[in-house]
Amino acid sequence: MTSIRSLAGACLAALCALAAPASAQNYPTRSITMIVPFAAGGPTDVISRIVTAHMAQTLGQSIIIENVVGAGGTTATTRAARAVNDGYTLITGHMGTHAASVPLYPKLAYHPEKDFEPIALLAGTPILILARKDFPPKDLKEFVAYVKANAEKVNAAHAGVGSVSHVSCELLNSILGIKPVGVPFNGTGPAMNALVAGQVDYMCDQIVNAVPQINAGTIKAYAIATPERNPSLPNVPTTTEAGLPAFQAQAWNAIFAPKGTSPAIIATLNAATVKALDDEAVRKRLLELGSVIPPVSARTPEALATLVKSEIAKWTPVLKPAS
Ligand code: MLT
Repeated sequence: MTSIRSLAGACLAALCALAAPASAQNYPTRSITMIVPFAAGGPTDVISRIVTAHMAQTLGQSIIIENVVGAGGTTATTRAARAVNDGYTLITGHMGTHAASVPLYPKLAYHPEKDFEPIALLAGTPILILARKDFPPKDLKEFVAYVKANAEKVNAAHAGVGSVSHVSCELLNSILGIKPVGVPFNGTGPAMNALVAGQVDYMCDQIVNAVPQINAGTIKAYAIATPERNPSLPNVPTTTEAGLPAFQAQAWNAIFAPKGTSPAIIATLNAATVKALDDEAVRKRLLELGSVIPPVSARTPEALATLVKSEIAKWTPVLKPAS
């Protein structure tokens, strides 16, 4: 009896061993869920949709975007960390969810390095200082003077503690020595709607969300926080040109899978992402929105792992005292 049971156990183990590589080999055989940790229409959502639409063609399966909001993206990221690691649940994380959240949330239920397999970087996203159209300051110098003089009255929209918009404006506000009232939203998609409607004063947001509104003249852009101007917004000065060189900020968005996802699946997903980033239509759309397309050397899982490590190291001393 014992020997039959152990034989059955051995057979089952052998079958499982055979099944695992086979399922990775055939992957994907059904649709994939891409969790986006912020509201639809915001920068993470937009970048995810542009890239995954092409990836779905390569993979021969649909990729369904699921927007899971809350707690600056950490609710969704916790869910992704706990998902089955079979390649069918992925997440688009970013500088906030996979770096800044570490010092800001002492009880964070995941660790970006220990609980995820990096797949590929999607895009760099420069940060801009934006304001409602009728905000009085005309340029960045006036903005600085105005928010300092009205520090008790002004408010700044963001996408929750630890989001890119929150962390970027924390940096800006600490440089300016002000503490405006923060107005949280479930993403900078809805935060941008509030800015356009004149319900909030200013915001530090990723370029992808800002370009359509700046071009439509519905908001003000004071400066872009990168060393060079962005080709999609040639008339927006850099923070250095506009008189605030200390404020430099660029975020990033990237795809991750839960820890333990098979290396074959990671390789398949990485290849599909890289192919999407090389596609002319995908590149055109990302560039129109001001994204920085990662160079070939930055598109590997290893490069993303290095980026996450360095970003946690960079943001931890900056954000820890404020937490
Ligand atoms: C979003 O997609 O809403 C943003 O990435 C939010 C943010 O981190 O500021």
